[in-house]
Amino acid sequence: MLLPRPFAKTLLPHALDERVTGYLLDSSSGVAAPDELSQVATWLQSALRPATGLLLDRDAGGAIALQVDDLLGDDAYRLQVSPEGVRIAGGSAAGVFYGCQSLLQLLPPAIFRRSRVTGVSWELSAVEVEDAPRFGWRGAMLDVARHFMPKHDLLRFIDLMAMHKLNILHLHLTDDQGWRIEIKRYPWLTEVGAWRLESQVGADPNGPGDGRPHGGFYTQDDIREIVAYAAERFITIIPEIESPGHVQAALAAYPELGVTGAALDVWTRWGVSENVLNAEESTVEFFANVLDEVMDLFPSPFIGVGGDECPKNQWRNDRRVQARITELGLTDETALQAWFIARLNERLTARGRRLFGWDEILEGELPADAVVASWRGMTGAAVAARRGHNVVACPDNTVYLDYRQSLAPDEPIPVAIPLTVEDVYQFQPIPDGLTDDEAERILGGQANVWTEHMDSPRTIDYFVFPRICAIAEVLWSGPSHNFADFAERLDEHLARLDAVGVEYRRSTGPLPWQRRPGITGRPHTR
Ligand code: ACM
Repeated sequence: MLLPRPFAKTLLPHALDERVTGYLLDSSSGVAAPDELSQVATWLQSALRPATGLLLDRDAGGAIALQVDDLLGDDAYRLQVSPEGVRIAGGSAAGVFYGCQSLLQLLPPAIFRRSRVTGVSWELSAVEVEDAPRFGWRGAMLDVARHFMPKHDLLRFIDLMAMHKLNILHLHLTDDQGWRIEIKRYPWLTEVGAWRLESQVGADPNGPGDGRPHGGFYTQDDIREIVAYAAERFITIIPEIESPGHVQAALAAYPELGVTGAALDVWTRWGVSENVLNAEESTVEFFANVLDEVMDLFPSPFIGVGGDECPKNQWRNDRRVQARITELGLTDETALQAWFIARLNERLTARGRRLFGWDEILEGELPADAVVASWRGMTGAAVAARRGHNVVACPDNTVYLDYRQSLAPDEPIPVAIPLTVEDVYQFQPIPDGLTDDEAERILGGQANVWTEHMDSPRTIDYFVFPRICAIAEVLWSGPSHNFADFAERLDEHLARLDAVGVEYRRSTGPLPWQRRPGITGRPHTR
């Protein structure tokens, strides 16, 4: 049976009407692959082995054959199942990997369990699927600064991304409330900056603190391990070091970087701290040196420098900053911010990397090669594309996964506006009104997961799933308006998430443990 072509869906339709004899995985099955695909073959064996108990030996004569086919597009794949076996061809190793992910979707959801499942027939129906992604940037941004995510849970998050054919993890590593990456040259960034005394409860800035210290950071060895783990799953990690705002954790460690020089705590409140970087040459050098170590650790072609929500009050009111603005021949504080970003850009481009920042970096001069993440709706996406920049679409009114999931009064953490699965499925990464050339500059999009109110991986599961399944679908298949078709496939997919142990949001409402008293809503702004 052939599925209709072109067929490009992240979630394959499993319930095929007509089941033609396909292929049965059994003890005679093996995985065959050329050397260049040995990493993918190993991954596939380790994905199939726990539930089936099958060795799927590389020498067993194949039956699941992996190959690269240069005629296919880079990330495209072709998956064929017949009584003789399974063939997965990809335009690249990544394409083969995506074919393997689809293969798992053709098996019963129990394939995602981590120990032997008996009484299940591991039969694959006969299919032929040709599939290719619509966008090259299929991302998720994870904020590990507001709440630290331990390495073990981050690796699990990466596995879940791979399961959904996402390929970019934008890791928000630093903010007012915590610095999460070891920098050898400046050890206090984590000795001091990774720890805060407590966390604000709820969205009210005058609300109580929880009285519980919070912290954690990734050592450079951890980072190397995380980067390698992601790469084995064809996920690029894009690190983000925020500046010149969202830096209070760094200022707690090194007060001389700040405008006032005052001793500060790592911030225990949510929102945007007024404390920002000064404009001294030594401060630019400090952040450029941090980026040097970051570039040593992350091979990503893109490096995030933040650039969003930098309050200008301290700059306006400080004589030394004002003198710097004059000295540098700049017009105002907005131009100073653009100058700061351009200085960091010099260090990145010297090493062949591209600057990646939030859409505020469009205010003022922006180096041509910079990539813009459009978060304040899609206006930034259109402006940036028209000005010749590459764009990543992540409008807060569609793909911010910290936003509440309903208007129900018992919504556990009622942040901003409700975004249901259906709402996020309406995500259109390409804004209206662009020419073809401008539209080409939209690299793709990403879901943003801000974690002020998510203090555990359980809560992250609840906010992220299943909404991210819909975003992954749009980024892979392109926007579609057939939500009913998607919803049907999602229904089947939930059984896979159950098998993995993802505590996703159920349509019937929050789980009892997720009802948290005392959390009040906040307006529709970050
Ligand atoms: C952002 O949400 N401040 C990028």
